[in-house]
Order: sequence, then C-alpha cells, then structure tokens
Amino acid sequence: MGRMEGKVALITGAARGQGRSHAVRLAEEGADIIAIDVCEQIDGVLYPMSNEADMQETVRLVTALGRRISWHKADVRDDDILKAAIDAGVAELGRLDVVAANAGISGNFGAVHELSRESWDMMLGIDLTGVWNTCRFAVPHMLESGGSIAITSSAAGLHAIPGIGHYVSAKHGLVGLMRSLALELGANRIRVNSIHPTQVDTPMLMNDYCYQLFRPDLPNPTKADIADVSQSMHVLPVPWVDPVDISNAILFLASDEGRYITGVALAVDCGADLKS
Ligand SMILES: NC(=O)c1ccc[n+]([C@@H]2O[C@H](COP(=O)([O-])OP(=O)(O)OC[C@H]3O[C@@H](n4cnc5c(N)ncnc54)[C@H](O)[C@@H]3O)[C@@H](O)[C@H]2O)c1
Repeated sequence: MGRMEGKVALITGAARGQGRSHAVRLAEEGADIIAIDVCEQIDGVLYPMSNEADMQETVRLVTALGRRISWHKADVRDDDILKAAIDAGVAELGRLDVVAANAGISGNFGAVHELSRESWDMMLGIDLTGVWNTCRFAVPHMLESGGSIAITSSAAGLHAIPGIGHYVSAKHGLVGLMRSLALELGANRIRVNSIHPTQVDTPMLMNDYCYQLFRPDLPNPTKADIADVSQSMHVLPVPWVDPVDISNAILFLASDEGRYITGVALAVDCGADLKS
C-alpha cells in the first residue's frame, strides 16, 4: 500500500475493463485519478462499447477508496476535447505523474488487402493516433516533475496474428511511439514503456463477435467455448489473464521499483510471444 501516495494518474479508456482496473489498483496505492473515456458507441465498432453508467461505477470504486477522481467524456481522436479534458483534470487534481494510455478498440476480421479504408482509418485513428494524442497532451504537464507513461499495446504489437492486420499495425506502431518518447523524454525523468497483454477477460474479448472469431466452427459459441483455443496460444496453462494482471504491471513500472526502467516492451502474455 502507498506506492502511489501523492501521485496523480491519467487513464484513458477508464470506464470499464482494464482502464477501470488500472484506476482502482492505482487508487488503492494512493493515487488520485484523471479518468477519460468516450463512453458511447462508435460507429463501426462491432461489439458494445462503454457508457456513462460504466464510468460512474469507476468513479464509485475510486471514491470508495478515499481517492479523488476527475472524469471526462472525450474521444482520444478529438484533439481539442482530449486536450481540454487532460488540462482540466490536471488543474483539478494539481499535478500529473502517471499516464496509462489504454483506450483502444479491436476491429473487424479480414485479410490485410481486403480491409476497408474506413476500418483501417478508424483503427489507426484510435489505437495509434489516439495514444499519440494522449501522450502529447499529457507530456507538457510532466516535463518539470517527471513521471511514468505506460502505453497499452498488445501481444499483437510484438508478433502478427492473421486477420487483424490493422490492429497488428497500430499495436506495432505503439512500440515505435514508445521508444521515441522514451528516448526524447529520459532527460526529463519521464519513463515510457509499453505493455503487451495477451487475451484479457474484458468486454473487448468477451463478446459474441470475438467468440465467433475464436470458434467459427460453432453456431453460437460462448466464453467457455473459446477457452481451449485461447489457451493454445499460451505457454502457461491459462486461457486469459485478468485486468488486474495488467494493472499490476503498470503499477510496478510507475512505482519507485520501476525507476530505472524505460524503453521496454513488457509482455504480460503467458508466454504467447514464445509460440509466435
Ligand atoms: N481484452 C483483450 O484481450 C486485450 C488484449 C490485448 C490488448 N488489449 C488492449 O487493452 C486496451 C484496453 O482494452 P480492454 O480490454 O479494457 O477493452 P474494453 O473495450 O473493455 O475497454 C476499452 C475502453 O476504451 C474506451 N475507448 C475506446 N475507444 C475510445 C476512444 N476513441 N476514445 C476514448 N475512449 C475509448 C472504451 O469506451 C472502453 O471503455 C486496449 O487498448 C486494447 O486494445 C486488450
């Protein structure tokens, strides 16, 4: 307890899933939270996205821990609204020490040469440019004081997975972004790393569209039906990880224990990269 005492953490995609878990885990350790999420369905995303009720639950959980939370509805693609949200959060909570650039979507399935321009642009816009936006609007608040930025990529940011070339491209691009930021910001004591989760038990994975991708052989596959296929991608004998497993990696990197770690692509992937 107390590893984040006196710190303020900015988390995008904080309404649910991993982002909510990061908010709660960092708050448990003493951080106040700036929570940002679009909180509405984006046209073209093939599974239900979060809403304001989800964000209210994140707010409730953080507040119940006795921490402050400043939440803002913003799309990470929208320069002006995102910048205003980050600036307002920092103004309210007084500083910025930790960034978890986590907001992202998964996309439709298709061969790279058959993807539509719309789905490519949406994927790159949210999963790559949205992260760049988050970093570029957060960094000015950290230049004097230093801090930790954790960019959420994916196992698909370290190796290709067929049928999701736009996602693979965006998530690989985040490694280049992470390394560039780490190199440029080290002198300011801002450390920048990327996290590469395997399958995580969140609504992005646990939905009918994804179940069908994992089990095209079944008419109406369920969560239980995808466990074996998911586990077959791993070295460790588990089908997926919990959001808190990713939160703990972000906490470690942000805490004093991670003080000399920068420019690292950290896989939390049950060994998936070994099998690629
Ligand atoms: N779930 C997995 O299996 C898995 C695996 C590897 C990496 N990831 C990555 O982890 C991150 C978090 O995903 P999750 O699993 O928590 O999924 P999730 O869908 O539960 O949560 C993602 C959150 O991001 C928000 N969001 C999406 N687009 C946004 C935008 N344009 N602006 C602002 N907010 C937006 C959503 O509203 C949602 O609340 C994503 O970057 C995802 O690509 C997920």
